[in-house]
Amino acid sequence: MNKRNYISLFSVFVIVLFALQSCHVDPVIKDELPADNIRLIVPSGWPAPVYDFSTNLLTKEGFVLGRKLFYDTQLSRNNTISCGSCHQQFAAFSHLDHAVSHGIDGLIGTRNAPGLFNLNWNTSFMWDGGINHIEVQPLGPIANVVEMDEDINNVVSKLQGDADYRRLFREAFGTETVTTQLILKAMAQFQGMLVSYNSKYDRYSRGETSLSTNEMNGLNLFQQKCNSCHTAPLFTNYQFMNNGLDSVFVDAGRGRITMLAADSGTFKVPSLRNIALTRQYMHDGRFETLEEVLDHYSSGVVNSSTISADVVGGIPLTAQEKADIISFLKTLSDYTFINDPRFADPF
Ligand code: HEC
Ligand code: HEC
Repeated sequence: MNKRNYISLFSVFVIVLFALQSCHVDPVIKDELPADNIRLIVPSGWPAPVYDFSTNLLTKEGFVLGRKLFYDTQLSRNNTISCGSCHQQFAAFSHLDHAVSHGIDGLIGTRNAPGLFNLNWNTSFMWDGGINHIEVQPLGPIANVVEMDEDINNVVSKLQGDADYRRLFREAFGTETVTTQLILKAMAQFQGMLVSYNSKYDRYSRGETSLSTNEMNGLNLFQQKCNSCHTAPLFTNYQFMNNGLDSVFVDAGRGRITMLAADSGTFKVPSLRNIALTRQYMHDGRFETLEEVLDHYSSGVVNSSTISADVVGGIPLTAQEKADIISFLKTLSDYTFINDPRFADPF
């Protein structure tokens, strides 16, 4: 073969390699991912993501910029609160031990900060689904007067005046001109990379480990009693439902968005991945422990006009059944995810 043929053969090889990488679906995912491994992750057996970066090319530089923005207090009016203040990595990006969020000037919100992971699969955002796209989601907390209370145009000017950001925007997007759209694209790259798929349950599903007798009992009970709403593998069906918390709705939830009586008191079914790491529980953080949650389903369900059929009359459970379900729920904790240095605060 002459030199030219070698070169073209080599380029075909490189193209094939790239093609393989871009549509790569991991058959088995090992715990250690190289520190610079930034690519779309779709664990095997999962549905296709709703958001796949096709309109926002995922790059290491975009991810690094998005991470810095996520952890930067400059996104708040008085430079005290970052997204990471309420979304802590060690708590799977929820706000540990906070029933409802605490934001700027110590102001208190009305809802519990959910964990952030597998957001590429979300069909909507927030407990009431009031935001429908990952790329616009950060505008909510930035403008919210009890969260960050900042005007996005001020954020743009602050970042524009910062030489380090000008460099990061150039590296990520080829321009030093900071815009709202580029801020949002970079943040979507960071948030979209927060994929949690390495819990004990995942390793069990991949045939890499086994579950204990209690965990197995819990899994079987879960499949019978909980999976219709908290559907594996994402542990949510993404529907808005009423799981019997109240008979009178202080927070109308989905009803606040649609103004329909049929949606009043319904909330987005939360994923139960990492659930042992994200207390407190429910949209208003009313329960501190998983025991309290199981007591609710077993004997605390109250009737109302919009209660979901699956929880009418409660889901009676013995003490042993509750304990087994909790053992199973603990297998959904992903310690690789909460310790992944790629997602940590870079400041
Ligand atoms: C003061 C605490 C606080 C701050 C700061 C904050 N959040 Fe949140 N976050 C919350 C709360 C509370 C909710 C639930 C709000 C609701 O449902 O109405 C939430 C919801 C979310 C969701 C929706 C998750 C889902 O599964 O639906 C995302 C994504 C998110 N926040 C990202 C961010 C980003 C990005 C920032 C920074 C720009 C940020 N948050 C700043 C408290 C906070
Ligand atoms: C009818 C659907 C449905 C069924 C069945 C159901 N859940 Fe839920 N679950 C929900 C909804 C909706 C919420 C959020 C409610 C809210 O905050 O207002 C929720 C919340 C939770 C939470 C709190 C999550 C968080 O992040 O705060 C846990 C834990 C939980 N459910 C566990 C279970 C278990 C265990 C079972 C089976 C015994 C079960 N659920 C059955 C719909 C359901």
